[in-house]
Amino acid sequence: MHWTKSMAACALTLSMGVALAARGQTAPAASNQSNLADWWKNAVILEIYPRSYQDSNGDGIGDLNGITQRLDYLKSLGVDAIWLTPIYPSPQVDFGYDISDYEGIDPQYGTMADFDKLMDEANKRHIRVIMDMVMNHSSDKHKWFLESRSSKKNPYRNWYVWKDGKGETATDKGAPPNNWRSGFGGSAWEWDPTTRQYWYHKFYTEQPDFNWNNPKVHQAFKDIIAFWLKKGVAGFRFDAITTLFEDPQWRDESPVLDKNGNPEKGPDGQIELNDTQTNNLPAVHDVMKEMRASADKGFKSATYPGTRVFIGETYLPNIAELAKQYGTADHPEFHLPMDTQILAINKMDAVAFRTRLNDVETGIGNNVPLLVFDNHDNPRIDARYGDGVHNEDIERVIATVLFASKGTALFYNGDEIGMKTTPPERKEDVKDPVGRAMWPFYKGRDGERTPMQWDDSANAGFTTGTPWLPVPPTYKAVNVEAEQGKPDSMLTWYQNLIEMKKSNPALAQGTDLMVDTENTRVLSWLRQAPDGTQVLVTCNFTADPQTVNLSGGGVKGMQAKTLLKSPAGSEPGSLDKVDLPPFGVWIGQVQ
Ligand code: NOJ
Repeated sequence: MHWTKSMAACALTLSMGVALAARGQTAPAASNQSNLADWWKNAVILEIYPRSYQDSNGDGIGDLNGITQRLDYLKSLGVDAIWLTPIYPSPQVDFGYDISDYEGIDPQYGTMADFDKLMDEANKRHIRVIMDMVMNHSSDKHKWFLESRSSKKNPYRNWYVWKDGKGETATDKGAPPNNWRSGFGGSAWEWDPTTRQYWYHKFYTEQPDFNWNNPKVHQAFKDIIAFWLKKGVAGFRFDAITTLFEDPQWRDESPVLDKNGNPEKGPDGQIELNDTQTNNLPAVHDVMKEMRASADKGFKSATYPGTRVFIGETYLPNIAELAKQYGTADHPEFHLPMDTQILAINKMDAVAFRTRLNDVETGIGNNVPLLVFDNHDNPRIDARYGDGVHNEDIERVIATVLFASKGTALFYNGDEIGMKTTPPERKEDVKDPVGRAMWPFYKGRDGERTPMQWDDSANAGFTTGTPWLPVPPTYKAVNVEAEQGKPDSMLTWYQNLIEMKKSNPALAQGTDLMVDTENTRVLSWLRQAPDGTQVLVTCNFTADPQTVNLSGGGVKGMQAKTLLKSPAGSEPGSLDKVDLPPFGVWIGQVQ
């Protein structure tokens, strides 16, 4: 999804092994046991959209056993952890982000036994499993909401956000309480004729928001989090976390103004609204501190020892707001709030990328950055950065920025083979409801959710049935089997970058220092490890060949050993003259 203003918030020791073994599970093994507490700091995390990953039973929908079948592939990629988008029971209005039972598995995806098997098999391969945690809203079919809407006096009434309308009479429901809009279009308020009040939903009508002013909601989620931690999951990605609270005075959102002071209109002709009353309210920090403290108590005990990460879906306007999401040393919040500002650049602009990388190097203290370039809500890299001619080269540049800069890297399934965004061509084919509601201005998120392309057999090896979303026509050439072991393939590029990120001391632990900083066409940076190892990375952001001088500054040498270069690139003789083909990349270790 392209989140516009109005759509915003659109480790470890033997004791862990003993504790898990007691429950029939194994601790994720690692090459260096003493580093287990820090496993997440230079990790590679893959987002898996289970519905589209691998179908094992021919119903056209990906499932948990399908993911288990593909674990050896994930191991060969070098991923440390997989984040699964929601697999809980759900009416699937928002494909799992409308949860009707937080402690179960949707039958479409399998059973709890399938989940336990996935965990066991992943652990054997040293791959951790991260769950999605949706605390902003539930499904309208969740038993808590069914209770809540049954009567104003029901004990669950206050678990959700209910409000009187404006100007209601005995015969007329009046108007919604204010002008707040759903991230998916239309009013954020839905009238309930039985109890004659409106419920608030930041997202679909079927996703009523929880009332986070109610301490019972806090306790319910601490219990849910503990449930999954006890099962051995490695952490959570907290969905839409910045939207937990709403303005207590229920004030209208103000219009977004253009540079002339006039209200801006969106592509659908509606006036765009700011989201200051419904997004990033300070109380969210208190909730995250509380959730983290509760989970950390468990981390430090025999209940669920080891570091389990808190990842935040944090669409924020600047580095200062992102920095706050880490919390403080005494009161931590997220280990890894997503840096989506780099995602939002949306064009090959070396200067903008440099600013963002500098921001994370200088603006978040000693915390670990988590750069994000795409996911199941945003068009893939080709659709946002591609020029139609050099798309593969551009995808290599973006992957290089992701894996060769400092921090933990999160990427989306299919990126590693260069899958292309494939939106539906006809409104009647759209599965994501927002794509139908906003057609043709916005076609929804189906385009980035198409089935994983495994091979060139029917349905790309995703299913033997009819896939829930069509397999893109590109699958004949763009697929895992075709790219495996081919030196110039995208898959090999990803595998090489990931392997280097783990094994090269400068890429694993080094600082980022921008070099050749006046260059508006080429983005170059130096990674320097505590042991002095230096690695230079340079990426051409243009369609023209470029030559850069990377010598001087902090670079201790004139020669470098090439670690990785674009297929069409050459080896530089000396660091003062590095030639790059269009959208070319060169990575070298300074000698
Ligand atoms: C963000 C999720 O990534 C998206 O898919 C979902 O629609 C919204 N949050 C609402 O849960």
